[in-house]
Amino acid sequence: MGFESKKIKEIYAGKVAETYDIHVAHFFKRVKKSTFSDSSMKNGDKVLVFCCGTGLDFPHILRKIGKEGEITGVDFSSEMLNKAKDKIRKNKWENIELIEADITKFKDKLDKKFDIGVCTLGISIIPDYKSAYYNLISYVKNEGEIIIGDMQLATGWQAHLNPLTISFSKKYGGTYEGHKNSLELCSMMKKELTDVRKKEFLFNSYYYCIGKTR
Ligand SMILES: C[S@@+](CC[C@H](N)C(=O)[O-])C[C@H]1O[C@@H](n2cnc3c(N)ncnc32)[C@H](O)[C@@H]1O
Repeated sequence: MGFESKKIKEIYAGKVAETYDIHVAHFFKRVKKSTFSDSSMKNGDKVLVFCCGTGLDFPHILRKIGKEGEITGVDFSSEMLNKAKDKIRKNKWENIELIEADITKFKDKLDKKFDIGVCTLGISIIPDYKSAYYNLISYVKNEGEIIIGDMQLATGWQAHLNPLTISFSKKYGGTYEGHKNSLELCSMMKKELTDVRKKEFLFNSYYYCIGKTR
């Protein structure tokens, strides 16, 4: 069973938020860079970022959308959002709005549409990941882009590494079930979106999947 939302929120309060960037930023830098280079994101785009956390995706997105673009970041942890606010202040970024909310219940809350919807390292820790995914899609224009990046259950010979990757992600809410859900989500994207491409990293324990909305 996955952790409940309340438990996940507790995980991201306090120490995890304090040390998140130190422990995670370096590890995922290369895969994040690769994910956003493969995106069709362009100057001026409006980007919705679910589970934005401390904002590790923001520099990669800003590099592509420039000052004319806009980012709306949503996360339910005030501690993680405070770290994102620090980053925004230090870098003098002026085109980022942050919203504290549960993305599984974030339906019809904004009255605008986005060019791109992003969720990285979120789906695999959210028990109701399907609501999160469909809420993200609901905000993206037709022929816009959905970008999901996450841990997953590796298959084939790399499957024996799953206990190791799950124990690494446990501290952040990762579970066997969650890594399996994330694998499932990519299959859903392949059925429901167009031009879907998936790339795997870290012995197939991490992937990004990018597709276009219909
Ligand atoms: C592993 S961090 C990922 C942060 C960022 N996307 C990154 O790649 O560094 C997961 C984030 O998801 C957020 N989160 C988990 N469940 C959520 C939910 N139901 N609604 C909103 N945020 C959620 C947590 O608060 C945390 O900030």
